[in-house]
Amino acid sequence: MNKKIIITIDGWSSCGKSTLAKQLAKELGYVYIDSGAMYRAITLYFLRNHIDWTDSNEVNEALGNISIEFEFNEKSQQSEIILNDENVEYVIRDLVIAEKVSDVAAIKEVRTFAVAQQQKMGDKKGVVMDGRDIGTTVFPDAELKIFMTADIAVRVARRFKEMFKKNPNTTIEEVQHNLEMRDYIDSHREVSPLRKADDAIEIDNTHLTMPEQLDIALKLTRKFI
Ligand code: CDP
Repeated sequence: MNKKIIITIDGWSSCGKSTLAKQLAKELGYVYIDSGAMYRAITLYFLRNHIDWTDSNEVNEALGNISIEFEFNEKSQQSEIILNDENVEYVIRDLVIAEKVSDVAAIKEVRTFAVAQQQKMGDKKGVVMDGRDIGTTVFPDAELKIFMTADIAVRVARRFKEMFKKNPNTTIEEVQHNLEMRDYIDSHREVSPLRKADDAIEIDNTHLTMPEQLDIALKLTRKFI
């Protein structure tokens, strides 16, 4: 049997990290973990429960009431996020959540809470995890680290297509504003800002098809397993 490793995929908003991570996990028989979904689920909880996230006592109390799990859904054939026994995989993709998630993800207590769970999920290896700080903070010793980029116009067009399908009132301007705002906050926050780990390999997928990017990632993976 092949050696099991940890693969981290970090990068800018909407540059295809989760698409690649899911395909890679499927090919390798690994577990895929969407760390961004955890920050989105925490944001959903904070918004629903009117948590004042500028108050660290309120934040800590709220985090104590949050349980997050991932469950494989046979119907959608993907792993979905469960927040306190409720499947929130679809509601967390809403723009209302995307507008606040980077503020919530910048909070130290929130990151400590999420990172501890992410590290536990990776303790048996055989994991592909995507996010912003996976190769730098969550698994600094991961065998393979990928950093993804793509031109902003391509990222906006891809995300707009996805969001428009779910909500035809979505405009391209609001999607662009959201991606630019999140990229700025994510890369300028104090705790674990988004940056390429020194030993990460960059993949720019502006002009790559999905099979092409998967092929590149599989070739990289084979060097380690
Ligand atoms: O929209 P996209 O799929 O690119 O983002 P996501 O992976 O769902 O992440 C949503 C947000 O969660 C990001 O904009 C970050 O603010 C935050 N995040 C983070 O801070 N650290 C991670 N490891 C993953 C996500």
